[in-house]
Amino acid sequence: MRWSLVRSALLALSVESVYAGQLSEVSRRKGFTPQLKRHAAPEPPKDKRFANETDSFRFYNDDSAQYFVDELPDMPFDLGEFYSGLIPIDMNNASRALFFIFQPTVGEPVDEITIWLNGGPGCSSLEGFLQETGLFQWSWGEYAPHINPYSWVNLTNVLWVEQPVGTGFSIGDVTATSEEDIAKDFVDFFLNFEKIFGISKFKIYVTGESYAGRYVPYISAEMIDRCDEELLDVSGALMYDPCIGEYAWVQQQAVAFPFIVEHNSVMGYNTSYMKELEKLDQSCGYADFRESYMAFPPNGTQPYKHFNSSTDAECDIWTGSYLEAFHANPCFNVYEIGLQCPLLSDPLGYPTDLQYSYPGLPVYFNRSDVKAALHAPMDVTWLECSPTDVFVGGKGGPQDEGDFSLDPIQNVLPKVIEKTNRVLVSNGNLDYEIITNGTLLAIQNMTWNGAFGFQHAPNTTIDITLPDLMYRDIFVSSGFDNGTEEPQGTMGMQHYERGLMWAETYLSGHMQPQFQGRSAYRHLQWVLGRIDKL
Ligand SMILES: *[C@@H]1O[C@H](CO)[C@@H](O)[C@H](O)[C@H]1NC(C)=O
Ligand SMILES: *[C@@H]1O[C@H](CO)[C@@H](O)[C@H](O)[C@H]1NC(C)=O
Ligand SMILES: *[C@@H]1O[C@H](CO)[C@@H](O)[C@H](O)[C@H]1NC(C)=O
Ligand SMILES: *[C@@H]1O[C@H](CO)[C@@H](O)[C@H](O)[C@H]1NC(C)=O
Ligand SMILES: *[C@@H]1O[C@H](CO)[C@@H](O)[C@H](O)[C@H]1NC(C)=O
Ligand SMILES: *[C@@H]1O[C@H](CO)[C@@H](O)[C@H](O)[C@H]1NC(C)=O
Ligand SMILES: *[C@@H]1O[C@H](CO)[C@@H](O)[C@H](O)[C@H]1NC(C)=O
Ligand SMILES: *[C@@H]1O[C@H](CO)[C@@H](O)[C@H](O)[C@H]1NC(C)=O
Ligand SMILES: *[C@@H]1O[C@H](CO)[C@@H](O)[C@H](O)[C@H]1NC(C)=O
Ligand SMILES: *[C@@H]1O[C@H](CO)[C@@H](O)[C@H](O)[C@H]1NC(C)=O
Ligand SMILES: *[C@@H]1O[C@H](CO)[C@@H](O)[C@H](O)[C@H]1NC(C)=O
Repeated sequence: MRWSLVRSALLALSVESVYAGQLSEVSRRKGFTPQLKRHAAPEPPKDKRFANETDSFRFYNDDSAQYFVDELPDMPFDLGEFYSGLIPIDMNNASRALFFIFQPTVGEPVDEITIWLNGGPGCSSLEGFLQETGLFQWSWGEYAPHINPYSWVNLTNVLWVEQPVGTGFSIGDVTATSEEDIAKDFVDFFLNFEKIFGISKFKIYVTGESYAGRYVPYISAEMIDRCDEELLDVSGALMYDPCIGEYAWVQQQAVAFPFIVEHNSVMGYNTSYMKELEKLDQSCGYADFRESYMAFPPNGTQPYKHFNSSTDAECDIWTGSYLEAFHANPCFNVYEIGLQCPLLSDPLGYPTDLQYSYPGLPVYFNRSDVKAALHAPMDVTWLECSPTDVFVGGKGGPQDEGDFSLDPIQNVLPKVIEKTNRVLVSNGNLDYEIITNGTLLAIQNMTWNGAFGFQHAPNTTIDITLPDLMYRDIFVSSGFDNGTEEPQGTMGMQHYERGLMWAETYLSGHMQPQFQGRSAYRHLQWVLGRIDKL
């Protein structure tokens, strides 16, 4: 799901161990037993399934039958057609295998597969399934799961994959040192998936978020390079809050200070600290960099940058302010800075870099009944983000992740845009993990379809007309007759040049489909070619 610096992950672990004891004490005092409450809650009746129901399922066959999922614990819904399990990367040696969930569209059948990937590296795409793009949603602070009215399954067939090896339920030796390695494993897996489910001549769309800003272009490029229009017809791609450029320097440090100035009413830094940050912004060269390169068209190629956390420690505006933010707001959420206390529980145990769920509430995918229902390996402890590296390259590579591939803006992202002319790159404005203007700066150092960067500054609004389908009933029952029938309004800025669509999303954190489901729904409609403007 999300990408987070090792230093913040370490912080999260130590904070968690301090809090764990205190929280269970509080819960004992209050007699809070969410487990009991959950089971006492009335469950809506489930539709009865007939023995012959699978006859109407499009992808059900002798090979796929073993992956069919009939029901999921605590999901009181008809799952419809639903599959999950492990598929080997190499059918002749099942020791390395990726875990997937596949759900065909609940709308009109379409000959498409949309792949969704979370980031990390090492974070599970089942987070995207349960909290962002899936048909059922069980998100932060939610007592129970519900139908997601903005699910991508409404529009297309969606495949969530836990990758690379080392992530979630996926099994096998971790061997990757680059995005090329990961992409090769993924495409091998994907061809096996297509074979099992009887899929060919489908359009393929590759989407994801955060560190998947590296996975998505490399996987798409690997598909393009294999020149197989029947099985690997990449037709578009989408990346949210993505690591497409030099992310520590350009997408965090260089743009942190103006972000803070714009948002300090919720970040809460004092005047003397703001002065300190401003000084560093100047002395470390960030202000000059923006002045020179935040330009449309761009003012030349950006110089090479690398943030070395030991030698550049004094210029680490981003981590410094990240840590200070917890003083004013102990519930500070780097992925969505608008959130204040109380800290929301996460059924996946990871709402912020503080890992927290209601005491007694197990991590959903780590439950043995859930593992059994999903055909997942019972002996794997499921964690949203892998505690061990999914690359074997130590701290090497341009981004110190052991991932030795070039940044996507250098080669592979241009290749994907040029092949499909349907690539969307988007950033949420309340995300401090990957900052909107940093992503735009990364684009301004990329050459695609015969020119360098965007020639014009984004100036066109995104107006969301889809009505609220999620909270309407609550408005009505609270006496606001028609309070949410109105269109949502202007929710972002768009800009299109030469096959690349840029979308800045207002009031959204890092996980855009979680925070602005209606905007994300529209983004997908564009990527799938159903509409021509956002
Ligand atoms: C399943 O069986 C029921 C009862 O025999 C029948 O009415 C229905 O049409 C069948 N459904 C399919 C998809 O074959
Ligand atoms: C399968 O691959 C693993 C490495 O992932 C290797 O150790 C093992 O020997 C292979 N098994 C066979 C039967 O080739
Ligand atoms: C998505 O599908 C669900 C279930 O069929 C429906 O209730 C919802 O209105 C649909 N959402 C959109 C945006 O069309
Ligand atoms: C982002 O950059 C634009 C110029 O393209 C500038 O007008 C805006 O103030 C910047 N926003 C933030 C939050 O830095
Ligand atoms: C263009 O960038 C150079 C640094 O490479 C800088 O000296 C110059 O002032 C910039 N020009 C503009 C118009 O920002
Ligand atoms: C900008 O792109 C050039 C190559 O075109 C690369 O050498 C340089 O490192 C990039 N700079 C940043 C900050 O990404
Ligand atoms: C960071 O700087 C130190 C000290 O100069 C150096 O030893 C180290 O190799 C650098 N790290 C990277 C990833 O460049
Ligand atoms: C201002 O904030 C900084 C950073 O959080 C803190 O170290 C300092 O003590 C604060 N100063 C005052 C006067 O509160
Ligand atoms: C996952 O489940 C295992 C045993 O089933 C348990 O030991 C472990 O603590 C659980 N981990 C989390 C994060 O819930
Ligand atoms: C917006 O930018 C386009 C170029 O992308 C330009 O043609 C148009 O005049 C601009 N509109 C406004 C209102 O500035
Ligand atoms: C509902 O909408 C109508 C027409 O826009 C308006 O006249 C009426 O006052 C609204 N009712 C409420 C309770 O907002």
